[in-house]
Amino acid sequence: MGKKITDKVTWVGKVDWELKNFHGHEYSTNKGSSYNSYLIRDEKTVLIDTVWLPYDDEFVKNLKKEIDLNEIDYIIVNHSEVDHSGALPALMREIPDSPIYCTSNGAKFIKGQYHEDWNFVTVKTGDTLEIGSSTLTFVEAPMLHWPDSMMTYMSSENILFSNDAFGQHYATESLYNDMVDNSELYAEAIKYYANILTPFSKLVTKKIEEVLSFNLPLDMICTSHGVIWKNNPAQIVEKYLEWANDYQENQITIIYDTMWNSTRKMAEAIAAGIRSADSLVTVKLCNASLEDKNDIITEIFKSKAILLGSPTINRGCSYAIAGLMEMVKGMKFVNKKAAAFGSYGWAGDIMNLLSGLLEAAGFDLVNAGKKTLWVPDNDEVDSLKEFGASFVNQIK
Ligand code: FEO
Repeated sequence: MGKKITDKVTWVGKVDWELKNFHGHEYSTNKGSSYNSYLIRDEKTVLIDTVWLPYDDEFVKNLKKEIDLNEIDYIIVNHSEVDHSGALPALMREIPDSPIYCTSNGAKFIKGQYHEDWNFVTVKTGDTLEIGSSTLTFVEAPMLHWPDSMMTYMSSENILFSNDAFGQHYATESLYNDMVDNSELYAEAIKYYANILTPFSKLVTKKIEEVLSFNLPLDMICTSHGVIWKNNPAQIVEKYLEWANDYQENQITIIYDTMWNSTRKMAEAIAAGIRSADSLVTVKLCNASLEDKNDIITEIFKSKAILLGSPTINRGCSYAIAGLMEMVKGMKFVNKKAAAFGSYGWAGDIMNLLSGLLEAAGFDLVNAGKKTLWVPDNDEVDSLKEFGASFVNQIK
């Protein structure tokens, strides 16, 4: 059922507590998610976005409890990805002539996914739609995070319908940011930024500056996932500006995989060396085969430097490290330093291989790396500690 946000705006989305993976299996959603859809009732009636495909019938059924579907004057699709447009075909079967407001890319992408020639009305930044006592203003947001993305601002209620931007994959029965555990909320918000928006950070900064230059009053940011930012909505905008500006904390993350614990022992000795050289830096160890890949991406996002380690397997590295680095490469991290380490028995050139993966992903290599033959003995453990301590100095 709908949840009233203001006299004119009602949330009509779907909270999905069961969702554990998103984008196929590219993004782990351990805290579930929501697909937020909003119904505006002014002199005209407007629906903003829908929900993910598996919930299409439920969405339409619930919407009918709120309103006679024939009273919907306009549908706005801020973003055509299936988690927001999935219920569109079921809805359009009921009201096939309703105009769909979206960007020109949005119209192409909807057609590409659903092969329907609906009544599209394409809009650009600054275009407006008068709906009575409120005006809706459209703001294109290409590549935040798809080429079709846009936001819609509603005057009178001072709401920015931001779609994916400022969202979180976070299921909650509470609608607003001040009604949930804020440590959980921010953990999901930074994970969302790190894994989805990092490659587009420069565009994030530009778009936020552009929207701020309009000097629009802002009472709420109604995202398409997770909570609505109602209490001090500027806080998440400020966080985005911070995260978009080559964000890093005083953290070094050691990411490794291990077969028979040799590389794990190396990682632990390197961590001890880092700790002995710098008592303030946060050091975290992540086994790439065991840790959630998206949590590792978030840890890299927060780090000023990483160390990447792998055992040698058939002259190569572990599949977990190779797979992770393929994801990391797509994140286009900048201003982060790195070095490689790895164990071997009789063959292979693990350090060059790992160093190559780090360079291809945009990291600044600070040394040639450290390799260990078989299992580190006491002397080698000391040498690894020295390697860790000198890494601290090299990244200063
Ligand atoms: Fe939440 Fe890009 O879809």
